[in-house]
Amino acid sequence: MEEKNKSSIIDFVTAKEYLIKELSKEIEQDKLPKFYPEKNEIKIEFEVEAISPEDIIQSIQILKTYIENLRIHSIDSNFFVIQAMNENLFEMKSILDNIKFRFISMGNQKKIDISKKGDLQTGELYAVILLCKYFSKTDPKKNLNPKDILQKLGVTVFLPEEERLKGNNLGFENIAGYESVKQEIRESIIMPLKNPEAFDEVSKLTRKFPSLNRPRAVLFEGDPGVGKTSMAKIVSFLCDLPLIYVPIESILSKYYGESSQNLAQVFDAAALYPSALIFLDEIDSLAGSREEGIIEATRKLLSVLLRKLDGFEGKPRTMTIGATNRKQDLDKALLSRFDRSIYFPLPNTTERAAIIQTYSIQLEQKEVHELSKSLEGFSGRNIKDFCDRVERKWASELIEKKLNITAPTFEKYKEVLEFLQKP
Ligand SMILES: Nc1ncnc2c1ncn2[C@@H]1O[C@H](COP(=O)(O)OP(=O)(O)OP(=O)(O)O)[C@@H](O)[C@H]1O
Ligand SMILES: [Mg+2]
Repeated sequence: MEEKNKSSIIDFVTAKEYLIKELSKEIEQDKLPKFYPEKNEIKIEFEVEAISPEDIIQSIQILKTYIENLRIHSIDSNFFVIQAMNENLFEMKSILDNIKFRFISMGNQKKIDISKKGDLQTGELYAVILLCKYFSKTDPKKNLNPKDILQKLGVTVFLPEEERLKGNNLGFENIAGYESVKQEIRESIIMPLKNPEAFDEVSKLTRKFPSLNRPRAVLFEGDPGVGKTSMAKIVSFLCDLPLIYVPIESILSKYYGESSQNLAQVFDAAALYPSALIFLDEIDSLAGSREEGIIEATRKLLSVLLRKLDGFEGKPRTMTIGATNRKQDLDKALLSRFDRSIYFPLPNTTERAAIIQTYSIQLEQKEVHELSKSLEGFSGRNIKDFCDRVERKWASELIEKKLNITAPTFEKYKEVLEFLQKP
């Protein structure tokens, strides 16, 4: 189905096929909604287990993603109606022909009735699908553990205390060199997160109108493999805050609009933590297709992101970190949300030496220095990969020759390097 044009009309048969196909993935056959034409109306009837006030709020959220200008007619708590308005809000003519959602919960009868005169638009169809999906989950509220909710959305939560129990601990020493980057991170992230009150007090003494001096969102930018993701994990350890790791790519889900829904849910679940670091990794995947202006879905996603970023303002111990290796492709409005941008350069000769030393402690200073000079243009990841490669080669040779285990020699590093540099 062509998904770019929000307002395209779908004929009844296609809409029904699509709805059934999508919902069959998650809902048992006998619980699928009934979808039928009646006179010149489309009717969809979906039986549900229960409708709670939270469900209504969630439903409004879902519908709002796809349908502009909704009006709520609440007759009583057992009968709730949401009606789409006309494009011109003051135009009341034939308003009842627009799509209407009735949430009915009376005695044994619990259902959602959806009706519309004429055919559905794509956005309306998606809204119906998501609404059915939402209500088909046996009890969405039982599952209020944010970590579980986030995991289902493809988001990983690192909890420093949990990691420490497993024997994992990270600190600045895990990234060799990068002293000025570390200093910037100390000043603009770690200090404000650890002592928000002090920063606020200072701003009270300086500002005519109250406003924050603490950054709420910081961007890590730099070439691939320079340690941006690693640094975010380090910050979470240093501040003892959960790291909510959001790989943007993975929440860009397959069909139009659902990804903005996902993203909104990620932020809502993240907000259940009293304090946290939200790490939006590879945020440039949002800037995917901009040749002909941003397509509808991306635009929607972006607007959710911008809104949610703003929404975290009030939380003193929560910060968003974005990472990108294509800053130039980021949307201006998105870029402007980041109060601070921290640039991770490629490592210089001294830093390369420090990184090499991290991954090959057996080498002499002089040898490390020599390697470093030959690895110009390498990122930390490239260097690590290079050292890994030498180790693997060395280990298999030891096994083949049935030799005792030792660390690779400097000659081995040079040999692998020469091999890599061959045209
Ligand atoms: N200065 C460094 N010292 C030690 N290890 C480093 C350094 N820089 C990078 N590395 C290592 O390189 C690997 C890749 O780093 P990381 O994934 O953090 O990079 P990145 O900037 O997030 O890359 P990408 O843009 O591709 O996501 C990690 O294993 C990391 O430990
Ligand atoms: Mg990364």
